[in-house]
Amino acid sequence: MTGKLITLEGMDGAGKSTHIPTIIKILESKDIEVVSTREPGGTPLGEHLRTLLLHEGMHPETETLLMFAARREHIAQVITPALNRGAYVLSDRFTDATYAYQCGAKGVSTAKIEQLERWVQETLQPDLTLLFDVPVEVSIQRLAMARTPDKFERESADFFTRIRNAYLQRAESDPQRIKVIDANQPLIDVANAVQKIIAVL
Ligand code: TYD
Repeated sequence: MTGKLITLEGMDGAGKSTHIPTIIKILESKDIEVVSTREPGGTPLGEHLRTLLLHEGMHPETETLLMFAARREHIAQVITPALNRGAYVLSDRFTDATYAYQCGAKGVSTAKIEQLERWVQETLQPDLTLLFDVPVEVSIQRLAMARTPDKFERESADFFTRIRNAYLQRAESDPQRIKVIDANQPLIDVANAVQKIIAVL
């Protein structure tokens, strides 16, 4: 495989999706083919599963299994073929989100998620992850202003705190791959921080 997998992570409301066009532009200016995608989703089946996952109540382990089912399809249909032809895949969320939401916030065991990760991804791991970090109150405020909340976005401040802590812990244990971006600053400064990281890829 010659391409790279870049993933974007952060709590709901951290603003990660805002930066996708900038990242695509920087990479395309270097003549790199970019495949922009998202999880859960990224394939027709994955998008069906996304609708269920974002709106239906279910057991946290069912949720985890469906996340990985969607991911299996995503890897087979989109990610692996793109990496094999040398493209960069930019995914709005990937497995770190499962560790943060289903494990960190909802209590699914790390061991079970690791097992699914090994099964579904084999050796595939992101080459780079940008973690957009904001204080919980900021994320909640932004969500309240932005849109009708989905199931995850209606959760409590305590739920969001657990997500944030889980993400930050993962970043601390893998600083080579996961770059934390302070997303609680003016948009232009966040964009500059993103550009600096992407420019050296
Ligand atoms: P999100 O990426 O925030 O998209 P949008 O900006 O359109 O709301 O929404 C996806 C939601 O799915 C988000 O709340 C996090 C959740 N999620 C998990 O709980 N586990 C996962 O493994 C993934 C990929 C997402």
